[in-house]
Amino acid sequence: MADLDDLRDGMNFGVGVSSVSQDFHVKGAAHQPWGMKDRLSRIFNPNTGKTVMLAFDHGFIMGPTSGLERIDLNIVPLVEYADCLMCTRGILQAIIPPNTNKPVCLRSDAGTSILTELNDNVLMDIEDAIRLNVSAMAIMLSIGDPLYEAKTVANLYRAVDLGSRHNIPVMGVTAVGKQMARDARYFGLATRICAENGANIVKSYYCEGFENVAAACPVPIVIAGGKKLPEKEALEMCYNAINDGAAGVDMGRNVFQSTSPAAMIQAVHAVVHDGLTPEQGFELFNDLKK
Ligand code: R5P
Repeated sequence: MADLDDLRDGMNFGVGVSSVSQDFHVKGAAHQPWGMKDRLSRIFNPNTGKTVMLAFDHGFIMGPTSGLERIDLNIVPLVEYADCLMCTRGILQAIIPPNTNKPVCLRSDAGTSILTELNDNVLMDIEDAIRLNVSAMAIMLSIGDPLYEAKTVANLYRAVDLGSRHNIPVMGVTAVGKQMARDARYFGLATRICAENGANIVKSYYCEGFENVAAACPVPIVIAGGKKLPEKEALEMCYNAINDGAAGVDMGRNVFQSTSPAAMIQAVHAVVHDGLTPEQGFELFNDLKK
């Protein structure tokens, strides 16, 4: 029993004052349960509603590509500047220090090096996601691909079923095959398919007409960076994406292949969260890389 000595009766009940309404800062998640919201809040900053994810899952189908040869040397020093880490379980367990305390969006499907970008219907055991305490699971979708669309949609569907049981959000990752147009019509279709199949976050690419893609997607979109661009152009892409409705970035090569990855991720962070223009972001990049 609690100590009753000097127990004071409550007096300040705010009778007549309406309950404080609590809007939730992540698009499409207002009706989700507490655990799901907690995980989404670890990914999307509650003050800005945005995120800077650092993607370094490329090696799972591409091997040790430029910038990812030594994740301990090239990526671990960047972790402190990222809001969320996107990687595979192998790299997470082998190299990422568990005391970084960063949310992880874990690559939870399997790929092959033969058909890069295309995945078969192999999904990680949900218990491993729980054991690794991940904040989200990432599943790639090959929309428009006659061989892999159905399999990858099935992966997403299954991941959403399993994630929902444990309040683990799922991010649908739109892969674009070589034969597909990278336009608003395609991304509008692909992002909407992800969301309607239950993805809580969608990863896509920036394109002309992105404002329509973002508006029509009922959950947050984070944009991939794609192939390495000059730093100023990459910052322009981030700025335009945020202005057009993206909730952040999930960027890899444009960070870890930069001439100064630490400066670049900080500049991206400032554009995404603080509204720096591309010019201001580039100035910051140049200052930090000195
Ligand atoms: C693609 O399979 C991976 O999900 C990458 O994480 C994604 O493409 C983002 O990386 P980048 O910014 O290098 O395109």
